[in-house]
Amino acid sequence: MSQLSELLSSNYDKNVEELKELLRIPSISSLSEHKEDIQNATSWISNKLKSIGMEHVEIIQTQGHPIIYADWIHQENAPTVLVYGHYDVQPVDPVGLWETPPFEPTIRDEKIFARGATDDKGQMFLHIKAVETLMELDGKLPVNIKFCIEGEEEIGSPNLLHFLSENKEKLSCDVVIISDTDMWDKGVPAITCSLRGLCALEVSLKTANSDLHSGMFGGGVQNANHLLIQLLSTLHDANGKVNVDHFYDDVVELTEFEKEQIAALGFDEEMLKQSLGLTDLTGGEQNYPYRERISSRPTLEMNGLWGGFQGEGTKTVIPNEAHAKITCRLVNNQNPKKIQELIVKHLEEHAPKGCSVKVSLGDAGNPLLIPIDSPMIQKAAEAYENVYGKSPVYKREGGSIPIVSDFSQSLNVPVVLMGFGLPGENLHAPNEHFHLENFDKGILTICSFLELVQK
Ligand code: BES
Ligand code: MN
Ligand code: MN
Repeated sequence: MSQLSELLSSNYDKNVEELKELLRIPSISSLSEHKEDIQNATSWISNKLKSIGMEHVEIIQTQGHPIIYADWIHQENAPTVLVYGHYDVQPVDPVGLWETPPFEPTIRDEKIFARGATDDKGQMFLHIKAVETLMELDGKLPVNIKFCIEGEEEIGSPNLLHFLSENKEKLSCDVVIISDTDMWDKGVPAITCSLRGLCALEVSLKTANSDLHSGMFGGGVQNANHLLIQLLSTLHDANGKVNVDHFYDDVVELTEFEKEQIAALGFDEEMLKQSLGLTDLTGGEQNYPYRERISSRPTLEMNGLWGGFQGEGTKTVIPNEAHAKITCRLVNNQNPKKIQELIVKHLEEHAPKGCSVKVSLGDAGNPLLIPIDSPMIQKAAEAYENVYGKSPVYKREGGSIPIVSDFSQSLNVPVVLMGFGLPGENLHAPNEHFHLENFDKGILTICSFLELVQK
């Protein structure tokens, strides 16, 4: 371990410079004008993987953005570890709120600022450096390694599932390891033991065959905006519970022990309110504590609403159409397709008189729950202890990494979510950053994990 950390310290400047190169590439997956940048990111990563001694490096084209594969398989009797990560990033707007430009990585206060710094280029890069460092010291790795790095995580991984099911042999392994989540706090590591799933829907409500003058028709004909509000307000009850029949049927409730564990982690409500500029925390199901609501309970959120006149000044119009974008965060054992069906049924049944309601279905990703007593999780915990001197907290994550549950199901192996981000690193927001204190420590933890897996 000490040899490793000495080597890392002496290579620190070079390593951070390399990460900056990757962060300079604006590989935004959702915007088609960045197609070339996506290609540049894939070439950069595949060249890097080659240079650290990984073999069979491939850039695999898909109907969307390419997947990068590489392996190093020379330890006949050792397990195989598959590293998953994503090189795509979120858009940068509102770009005016960035203190330094999103694709000009800058270090301030021991943090590196850039889009992708923590989600997920910075964290994925730790695995590349772990392999490189182990190779440099030993000329070999303690275990067999495969990399599968995709470019569509931020758009719901639409093409990875197909690749997964067609390439089970190629991706076969004993454990999948992913660094795309957060630690608990500074100096306090965390192993994420659940991820929420996701499903999306879009509602379009139509009334008359055109917008109408509110002077000539007002008081007589129905208004699409009013009807949409009426319809959407049936989706929750007064306590914030989702009011769709059978929505909660498959939810696995937390055990008393798990509830106690979440409560024991402590939570400063006042500080959170202050930092968010809120006077109350009244979203979601009021009869569950805040921490449970944001991690172990499902939600239904309206992400976008539009209809009628949005321009300057007043327009006396009765809109004839109105729209809403909805997503749900789901927990074990909810099935995203089934939840979409239940919501469609609810919307159709509650459609007010005098309008037509159309619902289109968007992305769907499964939730994931990982048993914390599995041997691979225990090895990850030991690796964190070795480097941070502290046992990790087991954390339920409210966010989603849609493909992870498919990885564990289709490859039938445990998944270890070993994150090195910190809460408050602004992922998806202006001034995203990564705390450099977790750079060498992250690499060391991964090295330690690989060594423990060998045993
Ligand atoms: N790395 C995040 C997931 C995450 C979020 C981990 C918060 C830890 C804390 C991932 O890249 C992400 O942003 N997921 C999206 C998925 C969506 C775009 C399909 C999410 O959760 O919204
Ligand atoms: Mn991510
Ligand atoms: Mn993300």
